[in-house]
Amino acid sequence: MKLLVTGGAGYIGSHTVKALLAAGHEPVVLDNLSRGHVAAVPAGVTFINKDIADPNLAELLREEQIEGIMHFAAHSQVGESMVNPAIYYENNVVGSFRLIEAARQAGVRYFVFSSTAAVYGEPDEVPIKETADLHPTNVYGRTKLMIEHMLRDYSSIYGMRYVALRYFNAAGADHSGCIGEDHTPETHLIPLVLQAAQGKRESITVFGTDYPTADGTCIRDYIHVSDLASAHVLAMEYLCDGGESQVFNLGTGNGFSVKEIIDAAKKVTGIDFNVTIGERRAGDPAKLIASSDKIKDMLGWKPVASEVEQVLADAWRWHEAHPNGYDDKD
Ligand code: UFG
Repeated sequence: MKLLVTGGAGYIGSHTVKALLAAGHEPVVLDNLSRGHVAAVPAGVTFINKDIADPNLAELLREEQIEGIMHFAAHSQVGESMVNPAIYYENNVVGSFRLIEAARQAGVRYFVFSSTAAVYGEPDEVPIKETADLHPTNVYGRTKLMIEHMLRDYSSIYGMRYVALRYFNAAGADHSGCIGEDHTPETHLIPLVLQAAQGKRESITVFGTDYPTADGTCIRDYIHVSDLASAHVLAMEYLCDGGESQVFNLGTGNGFSVKEIIDAAKKVTGIDFNVTIGERRAGDPAKLIASSDKIKDMLGWKPVASEVEQVLADAWRWHEAHPNGYDDKD
């Protein structure tokens, strides 16, 4: 299939482009490079430096004969969304609306959307199923939920079918070490821990040790980015084969505490770095673990790279090979 991948120069988008190529599809990357890296786009893949809100997008979709869209382009930092909500409403909500409407005008029938576990907020029970209540606790999660609502309406009214994939904690890097995670600023636990191991930061701070968990630190479900990528390919093929619109969680069903991740990182890297204990970070739920039974049952998806040691080893390979991330910084 010929597919437009928005945000294809970003972390999860670039890994999915690689998976699409391996599955015999033809990805076309659209990215405004506000957060992505052109070096993450494989040679030979068409790269279009444009915004998702570009007024000529419908024409571009027609010209390129795009059959389906994978939509990753978004601002995705929870903390930033609470101090600068305007860019989240502008880029995520307004931008996605422009893209979805362009897709309708151009007759694109399939849409795979990068959603998030943040749409659930503080869960009533874990593992979290897709049927759980949706009460996001931050602007980022709310913008993603608004986009899910748009897609639901476009599906029921215009027949544009979609899959929304609600990721838990994306982590790791392609096994080759050639592409990986490079955010500025970095706020995620695993890359920060590995930067501490590299000596790029003095220590890693644990945000709170008084949560109602066994060791007092927050528990998350870390899913390898390559397992996320394979789910996108399956989701698009499912839609193309006539599948109905769906929402799926993507996680492993296993939770690891912040302390467990730090201990595992020390083991994988062989480096004993400094750890400091800090205050809780506002808005962090104690425990987020996915039930991914629905996507396993319906699409036959299976995480194959998400053992926590492998997630850390692959992320470490990327960090060691690219200590400053992609070489396209100012
Ligand atoms: N943490 C620390 N120290 C740090 C950074 C993080 O202790 O320096 C802790 C956090 O408090 C949290 C855990 O590590 O308990 C994971 O934090 P991340 O920032 O890596 O990830 P989050 O769970 O906050 O958020 C991620 C994605 C969101 C998504 C969410 C859904 O970044 O986009 O998962 O589960 F919405």
